Amino acid sequence: MPSRGAETVATVTPLHPPREAAPLLEVDGVSLEYRTPDRLVRATHQVSFEVHRAERFVLLGASGCGKSTLLKAIGGFLSPVEGEIRLDGRPVRGPGPDRLVVFQEFDQLPPWKTVRDNVAFPLVASGTAARREARERAAHWLDKVGLARFADAYPHQLSGGMKQRVAIARALAMQPRVLLMDEPFAALDALTRRRMQEELLALWDEVRFTLVFVTHGIEEALVVGSRIGVLSPHPGRMRAEINSHEFGLASEGAAFQAAIRRVHGLLFDQAIEPVPADAARRTA
Ligand SMILES: Nc1ncnc2c1ncn2[C@@H]1O[C@H](COP(=O)(O)OP(=O)(O)OP(=O)(O)O)[C@@H](O)[C@H]1O
Ligand SMILES: [Mg+2]
Repeated sequence: MPSRGAETVATVTPLHPPREAAPLLEVDGVSLEYRTPDRLVRATHQVSFEVHRAERFVLLGASGCGKSTLLKAIGGFLSPVEGEIRLDGRPVRGPGPDRLVVFQEFDQLPPWKTVRDNVAFPLVASGTAARREARERAAHWLDKVGLARFADAYPHQLSGGMKQRVAIARALAMQPRVLLMDEPFAALDALTRRRMQEELLALWDEVRFTLVFVTHGIEEALVVGSRIGVLSPHPGRMRAEINSHEFGLASEGAAFQAAIRRVHGLLFDQAIEPVPADAARRTA
């Protein structure tokens, strides 16, 4: 079902993986605002989309269109001024271990904890596992991201890509209902980014977690996503949804280039009526 208010881009290929009746995550007409001392900033305007179990849903849009703000709201750190976000049919009211975020920044790991303790700590702190089980689970997930040998290292001894792997292991060890990733590979060099995309897709193939992945890269969106929500520039509105499961790391042919051009057109096409400007909307 296309999101409300979105232009639907017709695709002839069936959705993959097969849809279940009820979506896991529903973002339903969500507007998000920031209140600064002298004005309201509308970050997103009536955005709707649904994410089903084991989907890789990508939010794609230009800088400032509200991607991170949407993730914050899904994470429960910001409440919509309009609309509702539901997980398993229940409204999201605050943060919870069922929705974890991996950020772009390399400094998201406490530097005084070893790699193993970084992964184990949230399990213990949230009461999900006792200390011994937490360490076993940490070892399991560090192995999955190829860092078993670095369990006793400290974050400053790791490369940027390795730190992101730890952050991914830490999040997946908690077995969240939805993994939220905010441009997790944007600060990496092109080769490492490519390798991280490969590893993320291999991990998804094995674990089949549900992913909401934010990027402003068209190619990254097509490669990582099974479905893409294209947002308009500030304030973000859902402009289109695109099925992208047919594309992968090996994609480079004419169909892939055509998809890039089509998404580029959707991102930058200005033929959409404006939302009232922020500056005109004074705070009460
Ligand atoms: N704390 C804040 N206070 C006021 N305005 C904010 C705040 N955070 C973000 N904004 C504004 O909200 C809008 C959306 O910001 P957001 O960070 O969600 O964009 P984004 O799509 O993630 O951009 P980028 O690709 O650069 O990360 C922008 O206009 C931004 O200036
Ligand atoms: Mg952002």
